[in-house]
Amino acid sequence: MTDPPYDIVVFGATGFTGALTAEYLAAHAPQSTRWALAGRNQGKLEDVRRRLAALNPACAEVPLLRADVTDTDSVRNVAEATRVVITTVGPYIRHGEPLVRACASAGTDYVDLTGEPEFVDRMWLGYHEQAIETGARIVHSCGFDSIPYDLGALFTVQQLPEGAPMALDGFVRVGGSVSGGTYQSTIEILARLRQSASVARERRGRETRPSDRRVKGMPGTPHHDEFGGGWAVPFPTIDPQTVLRSARALERYGPEFTYSHYLVVKRLPVLIGMVGGVAGVAALAQIPPTRKLLLDLKTSGSGPSPEERQKAWFRVRFAGRSGDRQVRTEVSGGDPGYGETSKMLAESALCLAHDDLPERAGQLTPAVAMGDALRRRLEGAGIGFEVLDGE
Ligand SMILES: NC(=O)c1ccc[n+]([C@@H]2O[C@H](COP(=O)([O-])OP(=O)(O)OC[C@H]3O[C@@H](n4cnc5c(N)ncnc54)[C@H](OP(=O)(O)O)[C@@H]3O)[C@@H](O)[C@H]2O)c1
Repeated sequence: MTDPPYDIVVFGATGFTGALTAEYLAAHAPQSTRWALAGRNQGKLEDVRRRLAALNPACAEVPLLRADVTDTDSVRNVAEATRVVITTVGPYIRHGEPLVRACASAGTDYVDLTGEPEFVDRMWLGYHEQAIETGARIVHSCGFDSIPYDLGALFTVQQLPEGAPMALDGFVRVGGSVSGGTYQSTIEILARLRQSASVARERRGRETRPSDRRVKGMPGTPHHDEFGGGWAVPFPTIDPQTVLRSARALERYGPEFTYSHYLVVKRLPVLIGMVGGVAGVAALAQIPPTRKLLLDLKTSGSGPSPEERQKAWFRVRFAGRSGDRQVRTEVSGGDPGYGETSKMLAESALCLAHDDLPERAGQLTPAVAMGDALRRRLEGAGIGFEVLDGE
């Protein structure tokens, strides 16, 4: 097969997170990386390229590819023109499938930012087998969903003895606000909980699981947690699913592995307000007219200002146990949703394009596809992975 013209294409470069990802590449990609921007609007792509050229004059020549997810040929052209595609065209359940289909068919590596479990399960059902045949690595959730948890759990497991049962608890604390694209995707997730559960059941029925090892999610119960840093409630996002998939794929997680995932909030009244708010929005998202009102509240393309992003932060703590051994670790960084997310996404693409990785294909988690190579890249880029204590 001939080498395609690009190493990396950023699809969705005109959106809020896509533009930040392109800016990260402009500042940090090695000079030898051949990369391009893709999107549906030529004028907006040119604006993004002008902004990049102000950061790095070499970017004045970054090629622009026209692609719209409703035009199959244009999406196929993107997948065939590059070794790795980054996509920030979301909500993924609405816009994501054509590119996954094109990458699985062309044998092109793919990274996205989805936090939508239904999308990931649908893509596994539709394209996992084909991606294995063509050698494509389809790696979802390469942003704040789910890299700190997935790589943080792997990092914690690596501090515990090999070949022994282990149990991990993960505690997430964040400060920051969300973009229009994330808001729209969250409403989509809440509106489609029933469809999501049914696709997850179908996947469970078809996916083979290890017969000699047990991997289990433990929902946990709300409690005050000194180590977590406040009131902890079970947090059933895509992240624990990603951690458990890595545990099923990698022997290093031991013969018996359990994981509980919590959101931590310092003050109880704030937590109660948040849980009530999510329940209320979930109820409104089930009914088409109120869902439309919700979607109109915050539209695509906008996001927190540089000043707001400067103040945002995240901290994920893990408590790991194996027999009488215990270890406590922490993954931390700045603005989780956008600054650090665009860094994680761009470094994932650079890792797939340039690093020596295990030979694997199909739908893979970040830990399974890239593991330590990606962690080292992120540490080099300022994201902390620390052992706090252990005995
Ligand atoms: N889980 C995480 O950690 C995390 C963090 C951040 C973001 N995200 C997700 O990332 C996604 C993007 O977020 P965002 O805030 O950057 O959204 P955004 O600003 O709304 O950007 C969406 C992008 O999709 C493009 N697009 C829409 N329809 C298209 C089509 N038919 N063909 C081609 N391109 C199309 C838009 O192009 P135009 O500019 O032409 O409209 C824009 O470039 C969302 O799904 C969000 O949930 C996840």
